[in-house]
Amino acid sequence: MFVLGIESSCDETAAAVVRDGHEVLSSVISSQIKLHAAYGGVIPELAAREHLKNLQPVVTTALRESGHTIDELSGIAVTSHPGLIPALLVGNAYAKGLAAASGLPIVGINHFQGHIYGAFLDHPDYLADEANYPILGVVVSGGHTALVLIEQDGHAKVLGTTLDDAAGEALDKAAKILSLGYPGGPIIDRLAREGDPHRYDFPKGLVGGGGKPIPPEHRYDFSFSGVKTSLLYQVQGRELSEKDLRDVVASYQAAVMDVLVTKAMAAARDNQARLICLCGGVACNSYLRQHMEEACKKVGKPLLLTPPKYCTDNAAMIGGLGYHYFRHGLTDNLDLPVGARLPPDLGLFPFAKHAFLE
Ligand code: KG4
Ligand code: ZN
Repeated sequence: MFVLGIESSCDETAAAVVRDGHEVLSSVISSQIKLHAAYGGVIPELAAREHLKNLQPVVTTALRESGHTIDELSGIAVTSHPGLIPALLVGNAYAKGLAAASGLPIVGINHFQGHIYGAFLDHPDYLADEANYPILGVVVSGGHTALVLIEQDGHAKVLGTTLDDAAGEALDKAAKILSLGYPGGPIIDRLAREGDPHRYDFPKGLVGGGGKPIPPEHRYDFSFSGVKTSLLYQVQGRELSEKDLRDVVASYQAAVMDVLVTKAMAAARDNQARLICLCGGVACNSYLRQHMEEACKKVGKPLLLTPPKYCTDNAAMIGGLGYHYFRHGLTDNLDLPVGARLPPDLGLFPFAKHAFLE
């Protein structure tokens, strides 16, 4: 089964053709980073206009590179939520037009679920192995920071989430404060490699520091607004040397990532997760990858690190996930709505070993 995936939830226009959920035949991404860099963040209206320009060439290229024509496809999977509404509307209108013209079925994909699926694109074996469940998904991106427990029947529970900024947002905002450029995550990752992560003491949110116990209901939740404010006070009105800058950035990055590792490991232990997967744009981060690896090794839990090309927004994860809906006979109508937010009920994860969808 060949599925065309389409992604336009933020500032990447992407299309991919994926065979049977795992064989990525093409994955094309047109990034708008340069356009939005001037503003230090994504402007939804501009993103929508760019998607409109880029969708046709991106989809055409994805089909050509896959070696297949539209007649050979089995369906179209499009990110329908969560994301920037103007950006989603363009991608969804395009996908619906294509579905109507070609007669192909369409399915709307939850982008958050897509990020988790990205970890498994190259690993159907991990999904097929009952011994890996429950799986703990650690989703860290520009829009999300969440710990999700996935059972083999496809039920998933959000164990914790951020109460304010997402981890990627905390990095992007820090880079803005330090005038480093956009997006901040990869720049901070690079600079921090030559900095001292122990030189500055940045506060860690919701870890019970300073004698303040964590409220039990927030033990797997995150908060990154404090560390960002602390950075602002730390550097305001100061002239930073090259070394100071690298140390500030390394210490800041460590404060964000250490909380992610600590909470992920606590959630995995308390919920008897058998496999941990790290996904989303921030999962590209070298410090986070290394520290998650070390922490998992220490307790003997297997870790699945998403390949960097499937961490940041892409359509392979959307087309791959779409296959699992189509194989269960699940499709959407052309009145499929788009949504800005992650619904509290994540629905069944159709790629789980024993997901049964009606
Ligand atoms: O998954 P993604 O492409 O988009 C969302 O769904 O949000 O994630 C983008 C986020 C940005 O905040 C970006 O700064 C961050 O991922 N990011 C990184 C790295 N590469 C991308 N953060 C830390 N280290 C990186 N190497
Ligand atoms: Zn994303």
